[in-house]
Amino acid sequence: MSLRHGVVNIALMIPKVYILDDDLTYAKLLAANLGKSGRFRNEVFAAPEEFFTRHTEEPPDAVITDLVMPDISGIEVTRRLRQSDPHLPIFVLTAYAELETAIEALKAGANDYLRKPVNMDELTTLLSRALDERPLREEAATIQKTRENEFSLRAILGKHAEIEKLREFVQRIAKIPRPTVLLLGESGTGKNLVAQTIHYSSPDSTGRFVEINCSALPAQLLEAELFGYKKGAFTDARESKRGLIEVANGGTLFLDEIGDLSQELQAKLLNFLESRRFRRLGGTEEIEVSQRVITATNRNLEEAVRAGTFRSDLYYRISVATHRLPPLREIKTDLPQLAEHFREVFNREFRKQVARISPEALQLLAAWDWPGNVRELRNVIERAMIFADGSELKTSDLPELRTVALEVTAGGQLIDPDSFGISKGLTLAAAEREYIRQTLAEYDGSVQRAAEVLGVSRKNLWEKRKKYGLLD
Ligand SMILES: Nc1ncnc2c1ncn2[C@@H]1O[C@H](COP(=O)(O)OP(=O)(O)OP(=O)(O)O)[C@@H](O)[C@H]1O
Ligand SMILES: [Mg+2]
Repeated sequence: MSLRHGVVNIALMIPKVYILDDDLTYAKLLAANLGKSGRFRNEVFAAPEEFFTRHTEEPPDAVITDLVMPDISGIEVTRRLRQSDPHLPIFVLTAYAELETAIEALKAGANDYLRKPVNMDELTTLLSRALDERPLREEAATIQKTRENEFSLRAILGKHAEIEKLREFVQRIAKIPRPTVLLLGESGTGKNLVAQTIHYSSPDSTGRFVEINCSALPAQLLEAELFGYKKGAFTDARESKRGLIEVANGGTLFLDEIGDLSQELQAKLLNFLESRRFRRLGGTEEIEVSQRVITATNRNLEEAVRAGTFRSDLYYRISVATHRLPPLREIKTDLPQLAEHFREVFNREFRKQVARISPEALQLLAAWDWPGNVRELRNVIERAMIFADGSELKTSDLPELRTVALEVTAGGQLIDPDSFGISKGLTLAAAEREYIRQTLAEYDGSVQRAAEVLGVSRKNLWEKRKKYGLLD
């Protein structure tokens, strides 16, 4: 019993190859030869219907199909198989004269083509490699899909007209081949997010997205990183190295903080952008590349041009397609959606079950003007979620904002209406008593904190508590 079981298992592990050829004798010959290696199981078919029926019944691990057959072409077979399985290894057999059609088969998605008479070693190698690589390809495709989702248009949240415009811009730019884009915006407004979304929404998303921060490296190092170098170009160049411009070929080069580029590199970059050619440091050969170039800065480039620190010709070259990302304070209507989004993100990350942000806490968030924009909001929610327990994120989970909001109003009304319920019509004394009581409660009876927030000394607070009967 156990032996039989073992045999079945081994048979199942040997990959199954279907061979389709109207010349059945040839197909059988091929199968016999393939079978000799003991690495594949084979089934042969002369009729396409039979092949497809069997394929549906029991999908194979790989397919070998002839190119020219009376009822269906190998190209059509490839196309149909590809639709249902993007990673199935498919090989097409051709006669020498059919080379052009063989290339068609590659376009339809075949892994490769082989000329008849088939070199068995070559076929065995190709088949084995394709079968081995399949899990890797599937994994790579999953990662790619995840990235595409993470950086799809849906990743840019918000309903404000400015955000709608931003999404339209991303969509339009993604369709243009090799554009040069300039993203402007304060820190934390989403420039990196937008750059990646452009890349992953474009037809070149299978190419690399390569990011470099122009302010993070000294000029010489940055130059070597960007353009690459030949062995011996400078003392430390022991080996030749490809630069990021080359790595991003066929994809996107994202130059962040472009406003911090040195004068010399500004000239070199302009040269490259105009010709899309460059030389490695110490190299003589001109290398031509094709890619998207996205630049970003939180500086005012026009001002830098006027001040003479940024070349005007480079500015005009990169600012053909420019978009300014709005600061969060200008799109406050989107704040609740963003805040709730980050609440969900950190619910997952911290394994919490905070179901909502309280209306008072939302009002407190809305009162802040967010100099650090969406990144700051994300950080504030992250910190609040660490403290939050229960089902609601409350004002008490946002101590920094509360203090600030209170301080802002401390000069006058002394009232933070979002978290303090003081009804109108109270006498000043009653309102003061109530406000002190609630502030103390908010800080769990800490006289020190309450005195700070109320802007009075501890002694003064003690006197007021005595006066109002709030000493416990
Ligand atoms: N509209 C948006 N929708 C969802 N998330 C956003 C949005 N805008 C920004 N973010 C998020 O805010 C954070 C900061 O964004 P990002 O790093 O892209 O900003 P930046 O403009 O590149 O900042 P810096 O100038 O500091 O580099 C990221 O976590 C990003 O995902
Ligand atoms: Mg950034």
